[in-house]
Amino acid sequence: MKATVIGAGNVGATTADVLAYRQIVDEVVLLDIKEGVSEGKSLDMLQASTLSGSQTRFIASTNDYSLTANSDVVVITSGVPRKPGMTREELIGVNAGIVKSVVEQVVKYSPNAILVIVSNPMDTMTYLAHKVAGLPQNRIIGMGGALDSARFTIYLSKALNCSPADIQGVVIGGHGDTTMIPLTRLATYKGVPVSQFVSADVLKQVAADTMVGGATLTKLLGTSAWYAPGAASASVVEAIVRDQKRVITSCVPLNGEYGQNDICLGVPVVIGKNGWEKIIDFKLNTEEQDLFSKSAEAVRNMNSVLSTLSL
Ligand code: APR
Repeated sequence: MKATVIGAGNVGATTADVLAYRQIVDEVVLLDIKEGVSEGKSLDMLQASTLSGSQTRFIASTNDYSLTANSDVVVITSGVPRKPGMTREELIGVNAGIVKSVVEQVVKYSPNAILVIVSNPMDTMTYLAHKVAGLPQNRIIGMGGALDSARFTIYLSKALNCSPADIQGVVIGGHGDTTMIPLTRLATYKGVPVSQFVSADVLKQVAADTMVGGATLTKLLGTSAWYAPGAASASVVEAIVRDQKRVITSCVPLNGEYGQNDICLGVPVVIGKNGWEKIIDFKLNTEEQDLFSKSAEAVRNMNSVLSTLSL
């Protein structure tokens, strides 16, 4: 299996590193527009593989898409990250142009690939990728829910003072500080609702911490995070190439599910060799459905900005 990662910055290089370290694919192409970045990082990772025992091959590319040809999966991380105080939404002006041109090149060389979109604002970049790529809709997946759900799980495990492995937590909606919806009502500790162990106030705080999980790290680091985003992106690739049929909250086009149309938003989907294969459409309660509709409204407003940009 061949995976390409576009953008060899913090998130892209970490994604490539996890893909190779865990031997999820046989070959990783790392492509960046900046000369030397993908070459240097690929060489560094190749040298690391002699120590880890990984057999994954690396191909480095400075903007030469012919080297990405016939990839099975392409992860798109190219673009600018946010700085402290910025929202993901503020990146749209720069990143929309980058994502559009990258998707066009990717599809030209790998018409059968499944695309995983990571660049922010991710819900809008996924919507844009669907418009530009002309691929069957199952073959474009926005990665945000996997990361937000991982952060939710960690905050829940801290609140319950338990292992994150025993927590099931799902975050749906947009991948923004104010648009994501951590589903505290449905989170469980080994199948038992977490509300049996912690108070409603604690759960409210867990949800609030989850929503600003990315911003908290951006403030600490001076740029946005990469270890969990890279690991989350690699987990989506793994579900595809190993046809795992895992349920991973991902940003996909909605056609009536959750009461929405003409939008890409985070919902639980089954991921396997065909990309996202099925939307798990379950009944939210009134409060959750209301939050989901508000989230959709905010993402739709962001999508409408696309038509004002000269792309
Ligand atoms: N083609 C290929 N690579 C590009 C292009 C392009 N047109 N434009 C920018 N890049 C590269 C940059 O050269 C840089 O190496 O994308 C990389 C981005 O890396 P970082 O600046 O380290 O950003 P990172 O933290 O990886 O975030 C990338 O993912 O999570 C999101 O919000 C984040 O949108 C941001 C993206």
